[in-house]
Amino acid sequence: MREISLPRLITERSVIKLMEPQNASLMTRFRVENRQHLTQWEPTRSPQFYTELFWQVQLRTAIREFRLGNSVCLVMLNAQETEVQGVANCTNIVRGTFQACTLGYALAAKYQGQGIMFDALKVVSRYLFEEQGLNRIMANYLPRNARSGILLEKLGFEIEGQARRFLRINGQWEDHILTSLVNPDGKEDLRNG
Ligand SMILES: CC(C)(COP(=O)(O)OP(=O)(O)OC[C@H]1O[C@@H](n2cnc3c(N)ncnc32)[C@H](O)[C@@H]1OP(=O)(O)O)[C@@H](O)C(=O)NCCC(=O)NCCS
Repeated sequence: MREISLPRLITERSVIKLMEPQNASLMTRFRVENRQHLTQWEPTRSPQFYTELFWQVQLRTAIREFRLGNSVCLVMLNAQETEVQGVANCTNIVRGTFQACTLGYALAAKYQGQGIMFDALKVVSRYLFEEQGLNRIMANYLPRNARSGILLEKLGFEIEGQARRFLRINGQWEDHILTSLVNPDGKEDLRNG
């Protein structure tokens, strides 16, 4: 297990952290309330995905996976930490000569259009580069998801290509545009290399 402490990142409008399993009800609420909004952008979910028991297990697993160095699955909350605004999941962390991860994110419908995700991903990417020592953050979006593409472009992600039938989204294999943000300082952490 890695000794690195659990992140708690702050922006003007969000507290960003790995959520405690005892607060699973907040994640369940976010998922239930945004079910329709997120369906077209995400994998097909099981009925269990919308239950508190599922999120208790999931949040406990996320903390274990963080300590193993495999992922940093972050939840964005309002300042009072009473409501989930969205998620920023950094998964598939690969060390060695790659030092990279995949970033996925989603915002509650009502929190869109306010720059909240932009601010969050700014501090999240800084954390991944500076504290996790990564060199590359990869994010992929559907060609029809212009909103996500613009967000990534504004954050400095560069398009690196297009992959056919890349992810199974809402029951269909979908082509994706592949982008990356590379550590501007190039000071990647070779601890685990
Ligand atoms: C992607 C997502 C996080 C973006 O939320 P956001 O950061 O609040 O997005 P914004 O409303 O600020 O839109 C980003 C940009 O796209 C533009 N935009 C918004 N809706 C648009 C649309 N339908 N078509 C084209 N551009 C659009 C906005 O004008 C904005 O550009 P600007 O900053 O120059 O004005 C959010 O829409 C979301 O969670 N969507 C569902 C899940 C998802 O798509 N996840 C990403 C998977 S790759």
